[in-house]
Amino acid sequence: MAQNPARTGWLKPAVFSASLIPLVWLIWRIAADDLGPDPAQELAIATGEWTLRFLLITLSLTPLRHISGQLAFVRVRRMVGLFALFYASIHFTVWMSLLLGFRWFAIGEELLERPYITIGFLALLILIALGVTSPKVMVRRMGKNWKRLHRLVYLAAILAIIHLIWILRTDLSEAVLYGSVLAILLGYRFWRRILS
Ligand code: HEM
Repeated sequence: MAQNPARTGWLKPAVFSASLIPLVWLIWRIAADDLGPDPAQELAIATGEWTLRFLLITLSLTPLRHISGQLAFVRVRRMVGLFALFYASIHFTVWMSLLLGFRWFAIGEELLERPYITIGFLALLILIALGVTSPKVMVRRMGKNWKRLHRLVYLAAILAIIHLIWILRTDLSEAVLYGSVLAILLGYRFWRRILS
């Protein structure tokens, strides 16, 4: 369904501004000293959750476009995906700085020896690779390999859910919620593949 660009000119600025709300909210909570007894851990949890939410929103945009016929959903896909990388980078920086005080040896040790950290880091590396190759010029240059590489976004989301399960251990309700959304999105993708 073709859409008049003049009518959707507001779309990207609106999505961009909305995507910054979690960051503004976090800065507000820091300024108001409203992060609870362990601010560093609270920041790690909040930024991790926003990374996962943005990842899942990114994955839902193509199905929403198929279901609704609205091109608007795919027009903002790259931007929303880059916001997932943006929040992941803050999450990683919080971990390196506030939780590990930039102690490089400890950082290296944790990356190698703590499975939930290794898994989170692999997910981050995938998001970086997708972010670096996201400009239009890369899409053109990489041809078919671009699509192949960008399918890894599903692997990043699976790794993120494993990371979350590993952290939560006992009360898995949050992981079940996010995991179910991912399962529906993966199921939809397989179903489309079978039909095509
Ligand atoms: C795509 C990448 C990632 C996603 C989607 C993600 C997601 C999450 C989520 C949702 C949480 C909150 C868990 C909760 O509710 O308690 C979390 C916590 C955490 N993540 Fe990540 N994460 C990612 C990458 C990383 C990386 C690269 C690191 C470090 C190398 C990391 C370290 C942590 C730590 C330390 C916590 C807090 C654990 C605790 O509560 O003790 N994450 N992450």
